[in-house]
Amino acid sequence: MATPHIEVNDKNLFGKTVLMPGDPLRAKFVAETYLTDIKLINQVRNMFAYTGNYQGKKITVMGSGMGMPSIGIYSYELYKFYDVENIIRIGSCGAYDPNLKLYDVIIARDAYSESSFAKVAYNYPENILPASEHLVQALNASAKKLAIPVTNATIHSSDVFYRHQGDVFRDVRDKHGCVAVEMESFALFANARFLGKHAACILTVSDSLVTKEETTAEERQTSFHKMMEIALDSAK
Ligand code: HPA
Repeated sequence: MATPHIEVNDKNLFGKTVLMPGDPLRAKFVAETYLTDIKLINQVRNMFAYTGNYQGKKITVMGSGMGMPSIGIYSYELYKFYDVENIIRIGSCGAYDPNLKLYDVIIARDAYSESSFAKVAYNYPENILPASEHLVQALNASAKKLAIPVTNATIHSSDVFYRHQGDVFRDVRDKHGCVAVEMESFALFANARFLGKHAACILTVSDSLVTKEETTAEERQTSFHKMMEIALDSAK
């Protein structure tokens, strides 16, 4: 029973928990770096999914692609057709809050969006949707155990990366309390709610809309490890 976007025929090839970076090559990197006995189970559209073991627990790492339409498709199919229970997005974000520094790690409490995704898909009227509380707690407990400082906050899930109205982010920040922007969590949280599943999101600050600083690819790799270790520890 493959789906339109996932060629896997046996549900058991997926773990109950899936970590989702946006980039499928990052999924490959995570699997090769942290998991043992890895198996590549999806290659449709090069959206690689790997299942392996992390300290005795079966975990899948799969790319989501960029944006709510893309993560909306993959997370729906994972929850609905492959009995996946938990999806933890592991991504990068742009800081709206001047107090956030590059490489800071954020655990999303909830995601605000002006996207029509939740309304169109499920007739949900909310423009803010929560992460699953117990996953947030698990991520926080792992961060604490690993002595990695994290910020728990509301994030903005935006449909737009390139904007030519420089200061619009200040409105979103000030009206909705968003500390940073990414492009996926609101759709993920909507799918989890509708399907009775669980979702969370952990992010590393890769750039700042306030200071216009950016990280290099190499620097991102190191900070990415902190986020990954929190996500993996919470998943086991
Ligand atoms: N906008 C949206 N998504 C992002 C950004 C951004 O500035 N940085 C990292 N992910």
